Amino acid sequence: MQDELKKQAAQAALPYIKDCKILGVGTGSTVNHFIDLLAPIKQQFDGAVSSSEASTKRLIELGIPILNLNTVGTLDVYVDGADEVNANLQLIKGGGGALTREKIIAAASKTFVCIADESKLVSCLGASPLPIEVIPMARHYVAEQILGLGGKPIWRENFTTDNGNIILDVHAMQITNPLELEKIINNMAGVVTVGLFADRAADIVLLASESGTKTLTASNR
Ligand code: 5RP
Repeated sequence: MQDELKKQAAQAALPYIKDCKILGVGTGSTVNHFIDLLAPIKQQFDGAVSSSEASTKRLIELGIPILNLNTVGTLDVYVDGADEVNANLQLIKGGGGALTREKIIAAASKTFVCIADESKLVSCLGASPLPIEVIPMARHYVAEQILGLGGKPIWRENFTTDNGNIILDVHAMQITNPLELEKIINNMAGVVTVGLFADRAADIVLLASESGTKTLTASNR
């Protein structure tokens, strides 16, 4: 059922890309549904900027060219999933480990459309682990800093990001001030990216439930 809802959320994103020639594409099982839905309209696109090797592979299989963000500059629309969403459209992302490229593309996009099923909506971020991409030699140092903040960091073993780094998943953190925590963790030496999307939150969240898909917008914040 959750997978059906993910597909429903992906479907709801299609109107937002109808005039789009170059698309930003995220990562994860919800986004995989979104990529599948691009098949009948693929001729519309000059190309896509992809947030992971996994999404790149699927887009290439579909025949959509992959473009370099440095060449494209600014994107009109970026579509991606999330692990958690709050009422301010702030997100936890990085369950698939693609958080750094996701954050770069979100920052370079005019509109960030987040697609998710209703189970992702929370009143306070932090029930899901918060991923942090870390330079390998800083793993112990960053873990100590996170313990100092009251979180429980767990090394995602046997996982290397597309950028060659490791992930620490932080458990047991109630994130009452996402903006502040994002800044604090981003400032730690050795941290590449924290999977808190608070400063650059989503602009639109499409939240699928059995009774339909709800649209949360920045004006609801
Ligand atoms: C990958 C992500 C994903 O968007 C997030 O983990 C949600 O994944 P899914 O759509 O499979 O539930 O941030 O890094």
